Amino acid sequence: MIVAPSILSADFGCLGESIAMLESGGADWIHCDVMDGVFVPNISFGFPVISAVGKLTRKPLDVHLMIVNPEQYVGRVRDCGAMMMNVHYEACTHLHRTVQSIHAAGMKAGVTLNPATPVAMLQDIIADIDMVLLMSVNPGFGGQSFIQHTIKKIEQTRALIAESGSKALIEVDGGINRSTGALCAQAGADILVAGNSIFSSADPHAEISFLKNL
Ligand code: DX5
Ligand code: ZN
Repeated sequence: MIVAPSILSADFGCLGESIAMLESGGADWIHCDVMDGVFVPNISFGFPVISAVGKLTRKPLDVHLMIVNPEQYVGRVRDCGAMMMNVHYEACTHLHRTVQSIHAAGMKAGVTLNPATPVAMLQDIIADIDMVLLMSVNPGFGGQSFIQHTIKKIEQTRALIAESGSKALIEVDGGINRSTGALCAQAGADILVAGNSIFSSADPHAEISFLKNL
């Protein structure tokens, strides 16, 4: 299992220490949650922070844009050193064009689905993307409870990938802990994002290694 801790739950007063802790604990990717206060009812951080994170680690940056008009920022995200740029299906009028421009910028392209968006909406884009990011909470906040219906969506995404011949990975984001992580792994997830369960733990390294071994 690939584990991508979300720094949304980190202490931003000592981000360097948090990143070092994630690295020494075996984190595979660093998940950066960007919120604009329009697409989601919260504001988190933007390019200066992502760019600073990129300088603090050699781990791939998995950037999750919870913003409207994400296509306007492809170049800025690339300049921050992102490996993966995730845009929301619900935020893109011309999703295919956005995916093309992410690829042209040299990044991998992820498409994110909110909990109420059916997996079937990916049918005509699945062959062109590198990752499907399934939201297992309504985006906007860390520390929410996992929506159980996501398990069914992981299975549906797995089937869609198989029938289309796509090489897309499946990432699940929101409310991931030991028990929900195990259910996602069983259903076919490739990558787990976890914020609260790692950062609120007395032993964050133990949480990371538990998820990695699923
Ligand atoms: C939700 C974000 C998630 C979230 C994960 O809007 O996209 O990445 O912060 O945090 P936990 O693991 O706390 O649900
Ligand atoms: Zn996220």
